[in-house]
Amino acid sequence: MRAFQYGNSCGVTQTLKLRFCPSLSPSPSPFLLLLPHPHTQFPSLHSKSQRPTTTTTTTTPLFSSGSLIRAAASMAASTETDTKPFSVLFVCLGNICRSPAAEGVFTDLVKKRGLDSKFKIDSAGTINYHEGNPADPRMRASAKSRGIVITSLSRPIRSSDFVDFDLILAMDNQNRDDIIEAYNRWKFRDTLPEDAHKKVKLMCSYCKRHDETEVPDPYYGGQQGFEKVLDLLEDACESLLDSILAENKNI
Ligand code: 4NP
Repeated sequence: MRAFQYGNSCGVTQTLKLRFCPSLSPSPSPFLLLLPHPHTQFPSLHSKSQRPTTTTTTTTPLFSSGSLIRAAASMAASTETDTKPFSVLFVCLGNICRSPAAEGVFTDLVKKRGLDSKFKIDSAGTINYHEGNPADPRMRASAKSRGIVITSLSRPIRSSDFVDFDLILAMDNQNRDDIIEAYNRWKFRDTLPEDAHKKVKLMCSYCKRHDETEVPDPYYGGQQGFEKVLDLLEDACESLLDSILAENKNI
C-alpha cells in the first residue's frame, strides 16, 4: 500500500492510498507457439499402398521432419535476433516524471549515435493514476532546456512488457519491488518466461559519475529536483547504451 498526498482543484490536500493494481492490465496469454504436428506438416512420401511389404533394412532419413522444423525455427530465431530491435522499458511510479524523462534522454542519445532503428524504447508506471496524461510540465521544461523533447503519454506496466522488452529499468527500489511483485502475480496466469524478472535493473546501477543508488521522485519538490533527475539520467543512459552495445554485438 502506498499513500499519496495531493492537492485537488479547491486547494484541499487529500491522502490517496494506492496499491499496485494488476487488475488494470488485463492481458491475454499470447505466448503460445502454435506449430502443426510434424506429421501433418510433412506427410509420409509413401502412401500406405505403395509401401514395400517386406523390409530388410531400415532407412534413416537424412533429415527427419522434426529436425527440419527445429532447424527452421532456429534459423528464424537467429534471424529475428539479428533484426529485432533491442527493447528498453523505463519504469517509475506515475510515468509522468522520471521514466518519460529517461525515455526522452535515451531516445535522444540513441538518435545522436544513429542507432534509432536498432532500438525500441518506451516507459511505464507502476500505477495507472495518470494514464493517458503527458509528462509533468516541470519535467518537460527542464528536459527541453537540455534539448530533449518528451512526448510520451503515461501508461501502467502490463504483463506483456515482460516478454516484449529485453531490459526493464526501475527508477528506485520501490519501483523495482513493485515490478517484481507484478511479475510474480502475472507469471502463472500469463505463462511468462521463468527468468523474465532478471530483466529488471536499477537505473542508477549504470551511473558512472554519481553515487546515488536511486533516481529520486521529484514530484513534490522544486524545479531543482527535476534537474537532478536529468543529471542522473544522462549519466545512467550513456553507460546503459555502452553496456547494451558491448553485450549485443549484433546491434
Ligand atoms: P514519477 O513521479 O513516478 O517520476 O512519474 C510521480 C508522479 C506522480 C506521483 C508521484 C510521483 N503521484 O503521486 O501522483
